[in-house]
Amino acid sequence: MILNNLKEFVQICKGCVEYLFNTQDKNTYGGPFNNQKIRQEIFTGLLENFRFDEIIETGTYYGNTTEYMFKTSKLIVRTIELNPRKYSFAMARLFKYPKIKTYRGSSDLILTKLCKQPKIQQKQVFFYLDAHRNGKLILIEEIKLILSNIKQAVVMIDDFKVPGFPDYGYDKYPSGEILDLEYLSPLSNLGLQLFFPTVGPKNETGKKRGCVVLTLNKEYSEKLQSLSTLKAYSY
Ligand SMILES: C[S@@+](CC[C@H](N)C(=O)[O-])C[C@H]1O[C@@H](n2cnc3c(N)ncnc32)[C@H](O)[C@@H]1O
Repeated sequence: MILNNLKEFVQICKGCVEYLFNTQDKNTYGGPFNNQKIRQEIFTGLLENFRFDEIIETGTYYGNTTEYMFKTSKLIVRTIELNPRKYSFAMARLFKYPKIKTYRGSSDLILTKLCKQPKIQQKQVFFYLDAHRNGKLILIEEIKLILSNIKQAVVMIDDFKVPGFPDYGYDKYPSGEILDLEYLSPLSNLGLQLFFPTVGPKNETGKKRGCVVLTLNKEYSEKLQSLSTLKAYSY
């Protein structure tokens, strides 16, 4: 226990030191949204068409997308990171923005706390779920949690297989699970509305990872259908 705490403390110190003594351009850690220009356009299109009150991100990493989402929206951005070194790096980097709230811990646990807060439940929230590369896939539980607690939610999931565009990257796990439509099938009875990028990977930049945008809210679904960057998926 003491040893674990000590190891974690060392990692936290390393993250801070890395940030404070790194004189390189912080964009060497990769641009926002995997450095994908089309994805950034999808995000700004969402901001223009919705009146979000806040943004919640899982998987802070170095805080690139966190900082970008804040600078573009000026909204409260809550971001959750499990790795103590990445967390402390991002915390040191983002400390100067009081509207960015950094949380350390597993996304499922922190999301549970956030989604149970009445003041967040009443808000229009954009979720960016990007914490699913640690071997264990807990995303389905997180989506259920969000949709059952936040009625005005738009959720973007990174690393998702895009139907019709096999060259967009997506996550596959040692368990055999794949981030694709089949993975979401346990939610099919909820009336989930799904949207995928209109533009293919050839015209995308950066890491060319796929994504899906989803909502349960009918009014939001109509708005999403009007965006040129996204197309509705029909089963
Ligand atoms: C792909 S990176 C996130 C990139 C970041 N969103 C960005 O756009 O720059 C995934 C991050 O999720 C974190 N992570 C993995 N599992 C997690 C969990 N259960 N809870 C919170 N963070 C987690 C990893 O440590 C890693 O920093």
